[in-house]
Amino acid sequence: MNFEIKDLFVAYGGIHALSGVSLKVQEGEIVCLIGANGAGKSTLLRTISGLIKPVKGSIIFNNNEIAGVAPHKIVELGISHSPEGRRVFAALTVEENLLMGSYVLKKPDKATMDFVLETFPILKERLRQYAGTLSGGEQQMLAIGRSLMAEPKLLLLDEPSLGLAPIITKELFTLIKKINLARKLSILIVEFHYKYR
Ligand SMILES: Nc1ncnc2c1ncn2[C@@H]1O[C@H](COP(=O)(O)OP(=O)(O)O)[C@@H](O)[C@H]1O
Ligand SMILES: [Mg+2]
Repeated sequence: MNFEIKDLFVAYGGIHALSGVSLKVQEGEIVCLIGANGAGKSTLLRTISGLIKPVKGSIIFNNNEIAGVAPHKIVELGISHSPEGRRVFAALTVEENLLMGSYVLKKPDKATMDFVLETFPILKERLRQYAGTLSGGEQQMLAIGRSLMAEPKLLLLDEPSLGLAPIITKELFTLIKKINLARKLSILIVEFHYKYR
């Protein structure tokens, strides 16, 4: 896996959201980008995922230019995005949410599903439960699990701590580290910190 953003510019109409962002994520690395509300963190991840086309700049993934490539292609290439606010499908069960994550694969991989359920045992206990009835922390685990089901080489996490109690956040970050080590998965996390306003 190699991933590099070079001098990326993104605008909403005439409003500049990103001006000249450059960063690298190496194989097996966790990179965390910290910034204030409105700094453009979600915009950056949405641009990587192909949801927004950049004005200029380059996004290189495994030696290919992916800036402006369609979102479903990006997932197929091996980048999964766990969005801000989790966005689980409330009216689907935990299991159905996980299966949705593997939609781009020809069929869901049993070993990957087993890995997700071993990593997040609470999801295993609640496979038949509607996702909308889970707690915030559980929904975050489900959102990450759903991303893992696409078997990414690079995982994008948008504010996984959002709205979670500090103790749950700590647990979650321990699990993120565990996933990183177990799968040698490269991870780009964006997070808010109250010190950056
Ligand atoms: N769909 C949109 N249309 C117009 N402006 C937007 C849109 N999404 C975000 N913005 C603006 O772009 C800037 C960056 O937003 P965002 O990427 O959500 O920041 P962060 O995730 O760091 O809080 C903010 O000023 C925000 O108001
Ligand atoms: Mg955001």
